[in-house]
Amino acid sequence: MLNFDFYNPTQILFGKGQIAALAKLIPADTRVLLLYGGGSIKQNGVFDEVMGALAGHEVLEFSGIEPNPSYETLMRAIELVKRENIGYLLAVGGGSVIDGTKFVAAGALLDEDPWSIFDKRSANVLSALPFGVVLTLPATGSEMNSGGVVTRRATHEKRSFASRKLYPAFSILDPSTTYSLPTRQVGNGVVDAFAHVMEQYLTYPVGAKVQDRFAEGLLLTLIEEGPKALSDPEDYDVRANVMWCATLALNGLIGAGVPQDWATHMIGHELTALYNLDHAQTLAVILPNMLRLRKEAKREKLLQFAARVWDLHGGDEDTRIEAAITRMEQFFEQMGVKTRLGDYGLKADHIDQVIAALEAHRMVKLGERRDVTLDVSRKVLEMSL
Ligand code: NZQ
Ligand code: ZN
Repeated sequence: MLNFDFYNPTQILFGKGQIAALAKLIPADTRVLLLYGGGSIKQNGVFDEVMGALAGHEVLEFSGIEPNPSYETLMRAIELVKRENIGYLLAVGGGSVIDGTKFVAAGALLDEDPWSIFDKRSANVLSALPFGVVLTLPATGSEMNSGGVVTRRATHEKRSFASRKLYPAFSILDPSTTYSLPTRQVGNGVVDAFAHVMEQYLTYPVGAKVQDRFAEGLLLTLIEEGPKALSDPEDYDVRANVMWCATLALNGLIGAGVPQDWATHMIGHELTALYNLDHAQTLAVILPNMLRLRKEAKREKLLQFAARVWDLHGGDEDTRIEAAITRMEQFFEQMGVKTRLGDYGLKADHIDQVIAALEAHRMVKLGERRDVTLDVSRKVLEMSL
């Protein structure tokens, strides 16, 4: 097992009715800014529940944080925070609202343009406003990690940041808030969580048995419960298991002490920035062929994945590996997330643009062995047409 330093201070309140705890979680003597997206929380009752819990607080609102939150929108939130002397932020929504809130929490305390966070790799994030989360979409793990992704619409750049100052103080996970999710977002969430596990699990063995078994447990649970979330959307236990899986998939636990890949995510971010695919759609397209192309370097873990996750034991090694990757692809399709670039209208002549974007963002040596060069990324994209 590799050395590690695991730190995660986020308090998790899980279950029905936990939104009421907001009254005590947020200090009453500070002005609160509630940040949310396009209005789903007004339709499903979550907004009313949050406002009811915060009846004794002074609450201002900032709405309109879009999927793949934009720098342009978030700068308006930062202005509001400064103008209104806000002391606490509350993100109510999915990964986009949470990531956007993290950017606001850091950006509001900076004396320079917050875009500098990306150029300085978050080294200038020395402090941040405190913030909490009410999660409504299990997918990204942002509710219990310190990372975020923000898009600059003007330049089609999607960049990520992370800082120890940006863990939520608390996150409320009430599975019943997810009943109202459209099927597309249910599928997206399960595929994103699956890919997060794979980026940390499917590398090469380092004797990290606990991390491996945890990762396999999360994958098996997503495979079992994901389709049920589509067919029986109001099954509380199904939603609860999917929600907790997504959080544990990217809260640092399974990634501690093991090599990590993330090449699929980096290519995926460029596809979203350039062509507006949903985050999970990019992963469903890239991950299978990323594994196929890098089969030799990942052979041992691919065989372990085949045996322990897909129960594939017969035939020669290459047959088992291909069968496991195909089963994973079929699972993504079963969750309603298409797995070819062509499904999203992308063709061979788009690939140069993706490669140029990767180069511009210095994504030229990706993966757990830093051997995913632009040539490798190009081949993966070609295989995924
Ligand atoms: O905007 P509203 O009206 O809230 O609607 C949202 C949005 O349209 C809707 N939604 C959320 N909860 C709902 C709901 N609709 C009905 N009922 C509910 N309960 O779902 C749509 C998508 O929301 P979004 O927050 O964009 O989805 P997701 O959670 O998948 O977040 C995606 C973003 O997170 C980033 C992605 O790149 C992308 O920008 N990621 C963040 C990570 C992190 N912080 O660690 C890691 C990930 O790999 C990922 O990159
Ligand atoms: Zn992701």
